[in-house]
Amino acid sequence: MDATPSLSLFNEAYESRTAPWVIGEPQPAIVELERAGWIRSKVLDVGCGAGEHTIMLTRLGYDVLGIDFAPHAVAQARENAAAKGVDARFEVADALRLGTEPGYQTVVDSALFHIFDDADRARYVRSLHTACRPGGVVHVLALSDAGRGLGPQVSEADIREAFTDGWELEALDTAIYRGVVQEAQAEAVGLPVGSRVDEPAWLARVRRL
Ligand SMILES: C[S@@+](CC[C@H](N)C(=O)[O-])C[C@H]1O[C@@H](n2cnc3c(N)ncnc32)[C@H](O)[C@@H]1O
Repeated sequence: MDATPSLSLFNEAYESRTAPWVIGEPQPAIVELERAGWIRSKVLDVGCGAGEHTIMLTRLGYDVLGIDFAPHAVAQARENAAAKGVDARFEVADALRLGTEPGYQTVVDSALFHIFDDADRARYVRSLHTACRPGGVVHVLALSDAGRGLGPQVSEADIREAFTDGWELEALDTAIYRGVVQEAQAEAVGLPVGSRVDEPAWLARVRRL
């Protein structure tokens, strides 16, 4: 497992507009989760990036906060929301130190879990535990180790082993994560820069006990 990527690496991806996960729309798997009734306020969109999920859920009437530790991500998310005419809330904050307030009913993690190394993953899951209400649900959409390398990838066991004490893993399904190939991924994925790809992913539903 590679070390957790640095803050500067993420900031740089936003500044240079080379983030393969910025696709200008919400992930299909998250859209589907909402349609299926799996989102309840208050919602935390953790590692919100360009803000598509916070924007979608705010527009649909949910009480949602998008957080990201990269100031450039939050700036881009705010611009994105303004351009779409949605009064969405974003803050710069670290997912590894979420604190205990205000008690989220739903956490949407789209492509954050998979970036952490083993030590940070354990810290992240402990941080999520403090942020969720008892009975709250975390949805994890993570790139799968069956993929071609659009980004960091995790195995089914990585997810199962992360959510043990204090959690119940209610569902773990295969899904897709949509991305846009950039220079850095073109060789691994075997497609030209700018290609849209649907990569194999895991979609987990985990309940905080
Ligand atoms: C792969 S991107 C996914 C962005 C977005 N959720 C999406 O699916 O388009 C991961 C995001 O998590 C953010 N991130 C990484 N580590 C973080 C941390 N410790 N706390 C908060 N955000 C973090 C990065 O800045 C980046 O925006």
